[in-house]
Amino acid sequence: MKELHPFYQELGLKYPIFQGGMAWVADGHLAAAVSEAGGLGIIGSGHFNGDQTREQIRIAKSITNKPFGVNVMLLNRHVDEVLDAIIEEGVSVVTTGAGNPAKHIDRLHAAGIKVIPVVPSVGLAKIMERTGVDAVIAEGLESGGHIGKLTTMALVPQVVDAVNIPVIAAGGIADGRGLAAAQMLGAIGVQMGTRFLTAQESNIHRNYKDAVLKAKDVDTLVTGSYVGHAARVLKNKMSKNFIKFEKAESTKEEPDMEALEQLGNGALRTAVQTGDSEHGSFMAGEVSGMVNDEPTAAEILDRVWSQANELLNNK
Ligand SMILES: Cc1cc2nc3c(=O)[nH]c(=O)nc-3n(C[C@H](O)[C@H](O)[C@H](O)COP(=O)(O)O)c2cc1C
Repeated sequence: MKELHPFYQELGLKYPIFQGGMAWVADGHLAAAVSEAGGLGIIGSGHFNGDQTREQIRIAKSITNKPFGVNVMLLNRHVDEVLDAIIEEGVSVVTTGAGNPAKHIDRLHAAGIKVIPVVPSVGLAKIMERTGVDAVIAEGLESGGHIGKLTTMALVPQVVDAVNIPVIAAGGIADGRGLAAAQMLGAIGVQMGTRFLTAQESNIHRNYKDAVLKAKDVDTLVTGSYVGHAARVLKNKMSKNFIKFEKAESTKEEPDMEALEQLGNGALRTAVQTGDSEHGSFMAGEVSGMVNDEPTAAEILDRVWSQANELLNNK
């Protein structure tokens, strides 16, 4: 695997590794550290407006001259101004979640920006390919944050068989074994989120980092399935109460959807900024049990790449 896929060469990367755009978590500092080290750092713009997005892009640009990306949540009501900021600031890659980027593709391509949606199924991957995206990120339900219904192991090879554009694997990957396995499934590389939560350059609250470091394999659960926004988070007071409330509401004839949505809203921000486990949603994936240290972003990339190469070369 010494040779990077041309897709990555074109982007000028050293490693076939994206740091997933994570709302509130992946700021300009983290994204820049990953890009500076040779991966692709991606700022999570979540519900940001144009100015907030521009601020993080400028922070990243003050740290690195290397290419980086911005993740755009297409349901964000500020999506147009977020895209304006991305185009004006000369970002290299846009990854998208929660929606179809079709109507924005021409504009982004005209600005030389690669568009890479996150997809949870073969059907969506095919629709995205038809709209002209440059690659897809096939993300399994092992992942932290919002999730679909298929595992990475089952999803990635099926997406690889279904489309003729590069496929990047995400969900449940935290070391070189995961990168090597993703390659075997036909992916050109990986996107990791949870692994970067405890990177030195990650600015999340100390309590959040400690919770990830302490977590074992069975310490995540899925909240929000009932409201159609399934999200994998660490078990804590907040997530356990959320599930209890969801279960109780689901037995009612008229569930209080507003209260349910309210409970999920803003909870990731609370976790990141205050570390409050009673009200914060500590989004993290099933690999939290493998995340036991706090290396720099550069160390993470180097370790994952070296281990994958050792495994693939000694086959
Ligand atoms: C705290 C957290 C927040 C996330 N926020 C977003 C987001 O805003 N947009 C998005 O497309 N993906 C988001 N993700 C998914 C990641 O970008 C990435 O695809 C995922 O974490 C990969 O799986 P892993 O956690 O097993 O490495 C988030 C993940 C985490 C852990």
